[in-house]
Amino acid sequence: MSTLLLVNGPNLGILGRRQPEVYGTATLAGIESAVTARIADRGWKLVSVQRESEGELIHAIQDNYDSVGAIVNPGALMMYGWSLRDALANYPNPWIEVHLSNVWARESFRHESILSALARGVIVGLGPLGYELAAQALLGLVPAASD
Ligand code: DQA
Repeated sequence: MSTLLLVNGPNLGILGRRQPEVYGTATLAGIESAVTARIADRGWKLVSVQRESEGELIHAIQDNYDSVGAIVNPGALMMYGWSLRDALANYPNPWIEVHLSNVWARESFRHESILSALARGVIVGLGPLGYELAAQALLGLVPAASD
């Protein structure tokens, strides 16, 4: 069965309890359910990985190079995750970077992502809907022959 990889970096496992005024009240489990529902008709299965450390995220990506595509919210690793960037550079299929908050409307240190240039697309500021839209985009970007 084809798998879609969902990667969430540090502090994203506590969504719903993490600064709800910034990140909203949706939980990671809720986001996983919504993405799973979006890809079900295509017969894709979701593999969701959330880790607090960069090395573990790299292992997860390396272990899932055979997934059809990926959705990546790197959290703060967007700013300094050079090893994560190297792992994503070797990821063979399209992946989309997602940020729940509008990073451009926040502190200036969040205004540059070292990962974005490698992503097929970037979605910021749309909350949990961003993950669903990324899944929708990947449904279009991944050729049926790759399923
Ligand atoms: C985030 C934005 C990052 O700047 C921050 O470090 C996060 C969450 C977002 O989803 O809005 O952890 O990636």
